[in-house]
Amino acid sequence: MSGTRNRVEVLHGVNLSMLGKRDASHYGTLTLVELEVRIRHWARELGLETSFFHTNSEGDFIERLHQAPQLTDGLVVNPGAWTHYSYAIRDALEIAGLPSIEVHLSDVDKREEWRRVSVLSDLVLGRVSGKGPDGYRDALEMLAQELGIDPPEAA
Ligand code: DQA
Repeated sequence: MSGTRNRVEVLHGVNLSMLGKRDASHYGTLTLVELEVRIRHWARELGLETSFFHTNSEGDFIERLHQAPQLTDGLVVNPGAWTHYSYAIRDALEIAGLPSIEVHLSDVDKREEWRRVSVLSDLVLGRVSGKGPDGYRDALEMLAQELGIDPPEAA
């Protein structure tokens, strides 16, 4: 069995499947599939293996978090609006017990008051918001450092 811990799961929650059709001034123009292609590319550069999961169902998001310790070594989570109020997702993230980074495409701290609250923030290693897709790269870098992964030598 290889001891390498380099697997990262990227979890997208409610309404993220509508990227490309949402307000571009907050969320940019990439679709979720296009965003995932970028994330996978960045992850490879950093020596990380990625898997992706999206759902609009809170229960399915929680089920995936329950399975996460068997599937991955770290998490990048963008739960969408659930971030701001779902104590059920918070509990599931705590149960998963994995190094996690919270990402938001938009700058949630500069938008409506209710978006400034994150019920996950004290469970995660780091938070990135307002950097668009590049925020995921920052999140992957933080996880690579936490997992002790050295980037592969450039070919
Ligand atoms: C979001 C911010 C949330 O407030 C919002 O509900 C989303 C997306 C973001 O990526 O900026 O759906 O998580």
